[in-house]
Parts: sequence; structure tokens; C-alpha cells
Amino acid sequence: MHIAVFSTKPYDRHFLDAANQEAGAPHQLTYLEPRLSRETAVLAKGAQAVCVFVNDAADAAVLEALHAQGVRMLALRCAGFNNVDLAAARRLGLPVGRVPAYSPEAVAEHTVAMIMSLNRNIHRAHARVREGNFALDGLLGFDMKGRTVGVVGTGRIGAAFARIMRGFGCRVLAFDPMPDAELGLDYVPLDRLLAEADIVSLHCPLNPATHHLIDEAAIARMKRGVMLINTSRGAIVDTRAAIKGLKSGAIGHLGLDVYEEEADLFFEDLSGQVLQDDIFARLLTFPNVLITAHQAFFTEDALMAIARTTLDNITCFASTGAPRHEVSVEKLA
Ligand code: NAI
Repeated sequence: MHIAVFSTKPYDRHFLDAANQEAGAPHQLTYLEPRLSRETAVLAKGAQAVCVFVNDAADAAVLEALHAQGVRMLALRCAGFNNVDLAAARRLGLPVGRVPAYSPEAVAEHTVAMIMSLNRNIHRAHARVREGNFALDGLLGFDMKGRTVGVVGTGRIGAAFARIMRGFGCRVLAFDPMPDAELGLDYVPLDRLLAEADIVSLHCPLNPATHHLIDEAAIARMKRGVMLINTSRGAIVDTRAAIKGLKSGAIGHLGLDVYEEEADLFFEDLSGQVLQDDIFARLLTFPNVLITAHQAFFTEDALMAIARTTLDNITCFASTGAPRHEVSVEKLA
């Protein structure tokens, strides 16, 4: 199949080419650097499948434009699908494939890296030592053993994260509207989790129910000085409320791998430009905030698995009319 790959970075090309070769090169891949949008949809002309990533905008108008050009399938090379208008895709008869599980450990382990960096102030210590400042004042951390960790969303990533936290000797509390009894986790209502956790880590999908799940009211229910980590999707946290919480000391540490308005920032080298996002700029001023630019998934194991599953979805669609891992409109619920 001819596939137009949007938002291509050198690493996407490397792993998709490797996966295509491995499968006997059944697909013709056209790599496009621009993000998919109403303006760039035309670049997919001639392709039967379009491959997109987290910040490509597959809204109704874009999907209509793609469909009119002959595109018959949308292949997400990610797990989340909040950037796709699934109702419009269904109306157009455009199946949407995704990569449900490539390496939950990649994201879970990055979450742990953020927690430990914030806890032990590794980000600050590194800068200090490079400056010849070997003072410890301000770098005080806490033992993880015995601390309470709240896991919001115990799907693949949340479950992997909970396993690691148990290994640290933490008490793990979990909240999920669909608890998984097999995980043997201590499920509690969200309010109790927020009230008791020293560290709250978000691993639920972004949907209408989780949009701004962590708002001013939720932060008010948390332990004073809580560590809040979001490696899920930016808009699950109300960033303005988080900034307010950081200023008042209600939030003691904030780790973000995702950000509400990341589509204008992440995955690009903007180091030569003036930062226009004042809210993001404010976040960068806090010593107890650590931000990574949506890199939790970014391991070689995960990228190879993503490439394989993405192409397999398209191969499966070519032979059966449906991707192996199809996102259905019901998933919106
Ligand atoms: P999953 O589908 O396996 O698990 C999601 C879990 O969240 C499910 O158990 C579901 O019942 C639960 N959930 C749904 N609504 C909830 C709510 N209101 N409160 C609490 N839990 C709720 O998904 P997976 O693979 O664990 O991924 C989780 C999220 O992580 C994805 O939706 C995606 O947004 C994000 N992600 C981030 C990456 C990164 O690089 N930062 C990479 C991959 C995924």
C-alpha cells in the first residue's frame, strides 16, 4: 500500500523502513515532515493510507479531505486517539488503527525517572555540579519506601508503573472506573487516592470525562506538597490550576511529559525562537517542575514495536478491510 507518513522525524523513518524491510517491503512509504492539518492534507494525494502521530489533527474536515483524495485508512503510530474525530471517521467509512501496546514499560520507566529526578533534584544537581557548586542545600529528597503512590488509570502503563512502585516498597493506591482484579491493587475512590497519596501519577486516557480531571478542586483535595506526574495527555491537568498550586505550595513537585498546548511546541527545535506560550514559560520558572517533551515512549524497543504494529495494521487492512487494532467509536465512552 502507498502510505503517507505525516510528522516524520529521522527516527520514524529509520524504524518504519526497518519494519517494512523485515516484512518483505510490502508498502511504499512517503515521508512528510509537516503535521497533518487542513492545509497539509493535500500532501497525502495518491496514498491509500495515512500514518499520523499524537499532534496531527485528524478532525472532521481533515478526514473528509483525505477521504476525498482516496485515503481509505488512518494508521496512528501511537496509543492515544484523542486527536481523531472518530465519529467523522466512522461516517466516512475510514477505519482507524492504533498501536494499543508497544512498550508500557517505556512510559512507566520514564514516569519513574521523572519521579526520582524531582525527588532527588537530579536536574538541579547536574546543573550545579557543572557550575562547580557542590552545595547540597535545596537538594533534599525523601525515601520512596513507605510513601503512598496514587495511580490514576491502571491499564497497561498504569499497571507497569504500579509494579515498579511496589518494587520500591511504596504503598500503591489505584483508581480506575474499570478496576482489574487480577492486578491485586488496592482500588479506592479517586477522592481518597488524592487525599492520601504523596505522589499522584496519571495514566488514564484523555476523553471528555478526564479533561481537567486534575483541576483546582482536585488539587485542593491532595496532600499539601504532593508530587503530581502527568505522562498521559496534557489536558488531563488544568495547567493554570497547577501553576496556582505550585505558587501556593499545594503542589510540591510537578513532572510533565505532556502539556495541554504541546502541539505548538513539542517535537520541534524551537531554541532559536521566542517562546510565545506564557503559561508554559511560567512553568519553566519553577525549580520543582520538570518537563520533558513527550518522550516517555521514546525507547528503541518501543519505536520498533510501534513501527511493526503500525505497518501490520495497514497490511491487515489491505487483506481483510480492517486494521488488526481498530479504534472503534465506542472507545470514546
Ligand atoms: P490503557 O487503555 O491500557 O489504560 C487506560 C486505563 O485508564 C484503563 O484501565 C481505563 O479504564 C482507565 N481510565 C479510563 N477513564 C478513567 C478515568 N476517568 N479515571 C481513571 N482511569 C480511567 O492505556 P495505556 O496504554 O495504559 O495508556 C494510558 C495513556 O497513556 C494513553 O491513553 C495515552 O494518553 C498515554 N500515553 C502517553 C505516552 C507518552 O509518551 N507520554 C505514550 C503512550 C501512551
